[in-house]
Amino acid sequence: MTSTARVHRLAVIRGDGIGPEVIDASLEVLGAAQSAFGFRAELTQISAGARHYLATGELWTPALQAQLRNHDAILFGAMGDPAVAPGILERGFILEMRRSFQQAVNLRPVKLYPGVTTPIAGLTPERCDIVIVRENTEGSYVGRGSTVHAGTPHAVAVQESVNTRMGVERVVEFAFRLAERRGGTLTLCHKKNILIEAGTLWQSTVDDVSARFPAVPVDYVHVDALCFYLPTTPERFNVIVTDNLFGDIITDLGAAIQGGLGVAASANLNLDGSGPSMFEAIHGSAPDIAGRGWANPIGAVLSTAMCLAHLGETDAARAIEAAAVHILAQLPAMAGPAMGLSTEELGREIARLVQSGAPVPVVPGHSVMDDLAALRRADELAAPADGTGSRPAACNLEQSRPRSSVDRAPAF
Ligand code: IPM
Ligand code: MG
Repeated sequence: MTSTARVHRLAVIRGDGIGPEVIDASLEVLGAAQSAFGFRAELTQISAGARHYLATGELWTPALQAQLRNHDAILFGAMGDPAVAPGILERGFILEMRRSFQQAVNLRPVKLYPGVTTPIAGLTPERCDIVIVRENTEGSYVGRGSTVHAGTPHAVAVQESVNTRMGVERVVEFAFRLAERRGGTLTLCHKKNILIEAGTLWQSTVDDVSARFPAVPVDYVHVDALCFYLPTTPERFNVIVTDNLFGDIITDLGAAIQGGLGVAASANLNLDGSGPSMFEAIHGSAPDIAGRGWANPIGAVLSTAMCLAHLGETDAARAIEAAAVHILAQLPAMAGPAMGLSTEELGREIARLVQSGAPVPVVPGHSVMDDLAALRRADELAAPADGTGSRPAACNLEQSRPRSSVDRAPAF
């Protein structure tokens, strides 16, 4: 390792349940990638989650926010424990992190890798290569609403969904850029026949932004119909853009189709360089299997690879993806003791492959690692030459598409 190695400052939040196990396996792989590809990851372990909350009462504090802001990206395991009431950590930490750092896009690939058993009979990898772009800071997740007459037969609960033009446009524009790069259709998923106000805003935003991307075919599918088409004809989709709640739901469906929650990865992307992006497997803390070595770390490993692609370590990201997918194809089951290898052993195997540079088959179809890296490169080319700021201006919409009217979205 030379002093000129590229350095990336990563904050690591292992969290609860299976979070620490899958993160430890990912760090093993990250370590191997560092020596093989000549970069250095400076890791800061952050104590947060259920145990930390029970011991200190702390969730998302200003001090933590300031500390995390000083990193290039965040690797996140999982949060949640039966000892903490549902919603406390989810709303009090995870959603706060996404909102505070304006991680506007939640990018979730739904890709059936070769050799993976899917519950959809006859489905082949060529037919399932999708990226879901979930809006990540607004919608029903702003936590606005009220209840009157709580606990009585007259209780009235109102839960608001907030959709801003700026918040929607930045996500839609990102999705168009992705679809343009992938040479595929952009599908808007909503329920505009019923949710008239929000649906109209989303559709008109897609219509307007579409004028700047004439080569990208546009489609629209109601969310209920999409739940039918996603498993039956996934080849219909390439990039799907949708609101926060619909995105949360359909990405779990996507995970089922691609082989289970253990395989599904995600990137919570800050689009304007104002804060770090965060990378997490989409599974939760699974306290029922925690500590047994039964968790599949591949979702977390692929999320770590996405982090590296986002930071410009494209070769390392591709190598990790190829190694993880190669190992994945050999697993008799996607989680649990039937997987054949423990969480730790899987991490070690993938790390060994990455480090050895042994040839593994190239992952067929689009690689989301390439997508992330290419969007980042486009931003770099468009970035001002003064080189201000150490954080990569990854996926910076304002810089790369000056035609956009998008400004910083309000922080709900
Ligand atoms: C996800 C999870 C989270 C969400 C929870 C844990 C806050 O379900 O990342 O999909 O609802 O977004
Ligand atoms: Mg979810």
